[in-house]
Amino acid sequence: MGKNVAIVGITGVVGEEMLNCLERRNFPVDELRVMASARSVGKKVKFRDRELSVIEAAAEAFAGIDIALFAVEADQARQFAPAAVKAGAVVIDNSSAYRMSPDCPLVVPEINPQDATPRGIIANPNCSTIIMNVPVYPLHRVNPIKRLVVSTYQAASGAGRPAMEELAANARAWAAGENFTPRVLPYQLFMNVFSHNADIGDNGYNGEEMKMTQETQKIFHAPDIRVTATCVRVPTLRAHCEAVNIEFSRPMSEREVYEILATAPGVTVLDDRAQNRSPQPLDATGQGNVLVGRIRQDISLPDKTGIALFVAGDQILKGAALNAVQIAELIIRPVR
Ligand SMILES: NC(=O)c1ccc[n+]([C@@H]2O[C@H](COP(=O)([O-])OP(=O)(O)OC[C@H]3O[C@@H](n4cnc5c(N)ncnc54)[C@H](OP(=O)(O)O)[C@@H]3O)[C@@H](O)[C@H]2O)c1
Repeated sequence: MGKNVAIVGITGVVGEEMLNCLERRNFPVDELRVMASARSVGKKVKFRDRELSVIEAAAEAFAGIDIALFAVEADQARQFAPAAVKAGAVVIDNSSAYRMSPDCPLVVPEINPQDATPRGIIANPNCSTIIMNVPVYPLHRVNPIKRLVVSTYQAASGAGRPAMEELAANARAWAAGENFTPRVLPYQLFMNVFSHNADIGDNGYNGEEMKMTQETQKIFHAPDIRVTATCVRVPTLRAHCEAVNIEFSRPMSEREVYEILATAPGVTVLDDRAQNRSPQPLDATGQGNVLVGRIRQDISLPDKTGIALFVAGDQILKGAALNAVQIAELIIRPVR
């Protein structure tokens, strides 16, 4: 039997991919209800052989919905998710609103599927956190990680469709020799790199960096794992890259890491030293798997407890929409 599914935020980059994932993965849908702000009411989207009209998200719009996939900012998630739950839906939320709430599971299906209880609100982790941890967790299972040091290279679309469009418009303006003033991102991103636009806290870390620390501890059920992140926007359109240095509890060889990652769910190894070929955003774009390369012993840890990796993952897919739909699949077909 199919489910009645809602997508809240259908006009955004994540909402659009949620619809594509439901279609591609043949998710059993009876009714699909698509919502956005009042600005988008009446816009049309196509799902399978149906044309659907966008309706305005509102508390009363969730009647009869079984699964509500949320792809809106945290404020709107807080506004509408409780009403969706009250109406009987399980909410899978992509925003940061509920991720650290003790009542809400934070789920990456390849890591902690057992946490996806089919009720209330289930949070989808931050995109950089998911992309780092899909390949890191299978290593942690074999050799517990003490410390992670990560630097991100995050695409414009991580800040939503308007940021992606701004980068493209900036490139066109540059090609035409015109001046360009950014209005969505805080600085010009084209031909530039800047620290992630999330607010900086008292400890000097920005919000994105702290998400990578706290969410990793929650997903792994490992409150003692230490994570330090530096999150940066780069002028790519889609797919985040990350340089990750891992310190394990005991020595670990490159070969062991290769062997684990070669069969890890959701991971594709792309590591050709002879050709100097490793994961790039264009390789990862449109891929459900996280690509991993540059696998090498971290020479700053002579006892061989360190491994360095470079990963690339489509943050709109595995970092958001695909992960959410995989959680929905867990709800209808729970792991035993
Ligand atoms: N982009 C990513 O790579 C990524 C990755 C992981 C998580 N996320 C998270 O996913 C969520 C969506 O991000 P996004 O990148 O898809 O953003 P986006 O492209 O800017 O889309 C935002 C969506 O929210 C809707 N919206 C705005 N105000 C609304 C309101 N008052 N009521 C109902 N809908 C409203 C917009 O509808 P209108 O078109 O009608 O304004 C649009 O559909 C955010 O919480 C984001 O942090 C994003």
